[in-house]
Amino acid sequence: MTMDEKWQSSIDKARRADEMIEKERLRNLRLISKREDLRFELSSTRGLMVAPVIRRHIGFDNRILSLDIFHVPPGGHGEAQRNPEALMHVLNGHGYSIINDERVEWERGDTLHIKPGYWNQHFNISDEEPANFLWATNEPLINYVQPMPVVPKGDTYSDPPEDYVPPHPFGYEQKPIEMVGGEKWMSIVELRRRERVAGQEQHIRDARTIMRGRDVQLERSVHKGDFIVGIADQGHGFANQVVRMHLQQLPPESHTETHKHDEAIIYVLQGKGYSLMDGVRYEWQEGDTIFVPTAVWHQHWNPQKDSTTQHIAITQIPLQEFLAEHNVLEVRHDGDFTEPPSDYVPLFPWDLRK
Ligand SMILES: [Fe+2]
Repeated sequence: MTMDEKWQSSIDKARRADEMIEKERLRNLRLISKREDLRFELSSTRGLMVAPVIRRHIGFDNRILSLDIFHVPPGGHGEAQRNPEALMHVLNGHGYSIINDERVEWERGDTLHIKPGYWNQHFNISDEEPANFLWATNEPLINYVQPMPVVPKGDTYSDPPEDYVPPHPFGYEQKPIEMVGGEKWMSIVELRRRERVAGQEQHIRDARTIMRGRDVQLERSVHKGDFIVGIADQGHGFANQVVRMHLQQLPPESHTETHKHDEAIIYVLQGKGYSLMDGVRYEWQEGDTIFVPTAVWHQHWNPQKDSTTQHIAITQIPLQEFLAEHNVLEVRHDGDFTEPPSDYVPLFPWDLRK
């Protein structure tokens, strides 16, 4: 038996098996949504029509982000709704949204942050032209995580006498129990948590809601070869927590460096070109959308001689920044460990106390 075979837990074996399954999964994924496959349906937010673009039920394996196109008929508006964080980019038309009590006017090129849990309702002010907007959310992530605060059911519980002092968990001296924050069943952990949540809610309330298309200015991108502008980004005063949107432009006859990152959605706003993903070529034009799964090497090309291409990239960079440092798992196999005797028997703490 080699050292590798000897020092290997079931956790490690399962992890390697999961990695193989994941590689196989990536090979079979649907990676492009063509515009000719898009269909509008009546939305459950009545008054609007919706075309799912990147959704699990139409064959994508998006785990964090989703993308739809919403349509508001001339002079129309939809019902008010509440949802997880969403970014709304206006593809065409003129209108306004009521977000909680704020009225925000919009037109082609504008991008709105629909803050999580805020009531939002969308109006088309033109009697002739319909309005279409991209709608990017973190719904798949929310559906998986199912975030939920502690909810008391309101039934009975036991209430020890006021002067009861519980024994110290580790045998040291336990001080008498004191009230925290003027409430009886309250702890410092819960009190501070509520303060943090209130601070975060205030930060989101105060943050920017809209980036006007007329105000955006391109800059050089870290992808190299293309130009970029953040249209819903913390760098420009938004408080988006998970989903980010930026616009990228490829000059005539240009291409980006090959790169990889975590899950992203690329909607083609203008032009014709192609992307290479893990060596496979995917042609695209205005209205097509590319799904870039985590860790897939990719590169975008504009082969046209006279025209630029533009796309809206939807990423989860705020979340990724928060979790990036966590995605590390490595053991330094340099022989610096102690080898217990072959007849050594490990005991659990409850066995040791017998
Ligand atoms: Fe990319």
